[in-house]
Amino acid sequence: MSSIYDNRAYRARILHLLDDPARVGDSALQYFEDGILWIQDGKIKAVGPADQLLPLPFNVSVREYPNHLIIPGFIDAHVHYPQTGMIGAHGNQLLDWLTQYTFPAEAEFGDVEHARGVAEFFLQELLRNGTTTALVFCTVHPQSVTALFSAAKDKNLCLIAGKVLMDRNAPPELLDTPECAYEQSKKLIERWHNVDRLRYAVTPRFAPSSSPEQLQVAGKLLQEYPDLYLHTHLAENTDEVKWVQQLFPQAQDYLQVYEDAGLVGRRSVFAHGVHLCDSECQRLAAAGATVAHCPTSNLFLGSGLFDLQKMQQHGVHVALGTDVGAGTSFSLFRTLDEAYKIQQLQGVNLAPLQAFYFATLGAARALSLDHCIGNLQAGKDGDFVILDLDATPLLAYRLQHCRGPEDLLFVLNTLGDDRLVQATYAAGQCVHRRGGHG
Ligand code: GUN
Ligand code: ZN
Repeated sequence: MSSIYDNRAYRARILHLLDDPARVGDSALQYFEDGILWIQDGKIKAVGPADQLLPLPFNVSVREYPNHLIIPGFIDAHVHYPQTGMIGAHGNQLLDWLTQYTFPAEAEFGDVEHARGVAEFFLQELLRNGTTTALVFCTVHPQSVTALFSAAKDKNLCLIAGKVLMDRNAPPELLDTPECAYEQSKKLIERWHNVDRLRYAVTPRFAPSSSPEQLQVAGKLLQEYPDLYLHTHLAENTDEVKWVQQLFPQAQDYLQVYEDAGLVGRRSVFAHGVHLCDSECQRLAAAGATVAHCPTSNLFLGSGLFDLQKMQQHGVHVALGTDVGAGTSFSLFRTLDEAYKIQQLQGVNLAPLQAFYFATLGAARALSLDHCIGNLQAGKDGDFVILDLDATPLLAYRLQHCRGPEDLLFVLNTLGDDRLVQATYAAGQCVHRRGGHG
């Protein structure tokens, strides 16, 4: 995608994290009031203060963005692309919501033209919101995966996705079998895993919709290809947890169902984790697994309040997911806003830098992708977002009274949405520009 002509610099405010603020405090933050981000051949060549980096070599063109802020592209660690068309469906908690809205929407992905159309719209929506990497659920249909990966490849995105495995407790048109799950996943892995910036995730929907035999098949795939991801749901809703106890009476808790199939490891991402006991948290941490916290979804479906402190005390990796279509926004800003409020309701103060870490470098580390994404250090891929700090009258007004970079970040988390995003870049190429030009 990138070419020898790709040798550009962007001059604006720049903000990113070099480490986990929970570990190193405020020194995790790197902020340049007048900064330069230099991109060459799709990668970050240099980042730093303008007064140190200028002048650049004569063949580097510099674009000036006064009153704009450059940040790394956001990472959405849990989202369902087939649910784009049914976001904001009224009325029910998880299990009824799945039956009434989700399964009918997913059944339409047997039609490859439909899948292609939704995949294209979905990726545009990610990029419009400043998200450059996502871990994505497709549907049970292999063509839903092909449609998404093809569209993501065209844009040279770093994207992780997989075919959903489900062989029970769903409408017949959405069911596969353990054998078919294995064969179809294997073909998709061979076709797409590690092609350009694409990665594959073995994706059993959740314990209630996979037989023990099918979960074993998922584990077998992970053994055969050790660098695959595992992506599923865990302990989102109390009725779901009770159902898992009935379906798997021999398991001591929900996580053990996945452990028994060999699904819990360093590259495993479990969405939600709202109702986990101490032992489950401790075992997740020991495995190096990740919980994707999905605030807007947990509020929308009334699933519960995520216990971030418990996760952090046990040392579980945490990332953030929009979980669209149970989540109500593609924007990581809207997601960070709700994450803050969920902690407020539990008397916990989520610091702005920590929250930003979950949506950028922390997620990259959780996904073992921090060698190429997550922040703006030299050598990483050119995945970044240019934010317009005058995007709305209120934002422009509020930021006149800004007390520094942390305050700036918190105000963006509180007031920000897709209107902030002026342009989004993936591997150095512009993949979204507000208004389509300029
Ligand atoms: N659990 C199983 N499937 C789903 C889904 O599609 N969305 C959410 N939020 N939870 C799930
Ligand atoms: Zn989900």
